[in-house]
Amino acid sequence: MEINFILNNEDKCIEVDPMFPVLRLLRETMGISSVKTGCGEGECGACTVILGTPENGIIRYKNVATCIMPAGKLNGKHLVTVEGINGDKLSPVQKTLVDEGAVQCGFCTPGFVMSLTGFFLGGEKLSYKNILNAIDGNICRCTGYFPIKRTAKKLLESVSEYPDTEERIKKLVELSFIPRYFLTIRDRLVELKEKILTDKSIKNEINEKMIFVGGGTDLLVEKSGRTGADYTRFISNMAGNINLISKKDEFIRIGAGVSVTDIKDSEVIREHIPGIENFMEQVSSGIIRNMATLGGNIVNASPIGDLSVLFLALDSSLVLSKDGVTREIKLKDFFRGYKVLDLKDGELIEFLKFPSYDNNVYINFEKVSKRNYLDIAACNSAILIRNENRKIKKCMISAGGVSPVPLYLQKSSEFITGKEITIENLKELSKITLTEISPISDVRGSAEYKKELLNRLILSHFILLFPDLVNEGDLI
Ligand code: FES
Ligand code: FES
Repeated sequence: MEINFILNNEDKCIEVDPMFPVLRLLRETMGISSVKTGCGEGECGACTVILGTPENGIIRYKNVATCIMPAGKLNGKHLVTVEGINGDKLSPVQKTLVDEGAVQCGFCTPGFVMSLTGFFLGGEKLSYKNILNAIDGNICRCTGYFPIKRTAKKLLESVSEYPDTEERIKKLVELSFIPRYFLTIRDRLVELKEKILTDKSIKNEINEKMIFVGGGTDLLVEKSGRTGADYTRFISNMAGNINLISKKDEFIRIGAGVSVTDIKDSEVIREHIPGIENFMEQVSSGIIRNMATLGGNIVNASPIGDLSVLFLALDSSLVLSKDGVTREIKLKDFFRGYKVLDLKDGELIEFLKFPSYDNNVYINFEKVSKRNYLDIAACNSAILIRNENRKIKKCMISAGGVSPVPLYLQKSSEFITGKEITIENLKELSKITLTEISPISDVRGSAEYKKELLNRLILSHFILLFPDLVNEGDLI
């Protein structure tokens, strides 16, 4: 596949397998040695770069992990590495890291430099919480993090808020966070777009050896870039509902190509899923969330998929399409067995939809993993409750990690619907839940541990959502 992109300040046009990892492309064929090879699975941040994507006349910059990023996704974008942010002297981010003693062996440092620089470029609201979120995918094994946190604080104090993208880029150039050539990138990407061979060129060549790729983050871990497909079609390049979040006919629609970050930041979703920001922050880390898509997470069919579990509790459906024909299926019926889906060859998830719930519903998502971030859950669970005068009018509960598929807990949901929220009913609910699950012992815990864990997670939904009605002590 021919890809055209801008690497730092240089226009590039190369022929490459679209599923080849960007990290290897940079290090092995482009001589960019600042991106480091660490875990190779998106878990350490040593390979972090900044990726600029043209969107509605502006460039949106985000930090991404290159070890799990397919080369085909570079098409039409601006890729920034450490080589592209310093001229003849250190940038303020680099200098502050050095001044604060945040650099020891230096292996993680380029990743931190990119994540911190990308935070300012990305235009996220300037706050200590947000800047720490921006480095939640970067691991340092030397410094103990305090010098890095001091760096983050100092940098925050040196920059003011610029919501306007062009103004922000100008200001960051003035402050020497980025070089002057950044001011030319928008126009250069517009020119590049005309050159790019879009997916339209292969639109009519769909065959069973073609694969649709969302973020590609999991695929690159699983298959190391060897998919065996004749064609790869990146759904982020496709037009229509597949890349949109919208509200239509009392349903919220989220396109399969929408990233986890875009779900987290969407005003529409925030209005209908209170707490979505916190739920999504539990999904991997920023450098993965910026690439990973809703469709990818669902089609991966992991029994512990965070998005699958959340949307199961929201009574979601999927709209699938093939050759212009669409069909709709409940998400709970989509998972047929371990990694087995109700999805035909060549069929594509277009979007997920769920009812646009009003303010009277309570929604919660809980996840337990060995680490807070960057980890696969041992067990996760979501709940939606409509409660009126202590009585549950509607309740839907889901769970992950306790069966071969992400599970909608049908019996548990039915049992608690129509009941009052009392300690007795919750204890009974725990017994019913146990009859619906079949966890296995694995590296994330024994079957017994997972049973207990899910029980606690379901109770914690009620403790968190109804602190006036449920006292933690009464449940133990
Ligand atoms: Fe560890 Fe990429 S090498 S995140
Ligand atoms: Fe050594 Fe961070 S400075 S890993």
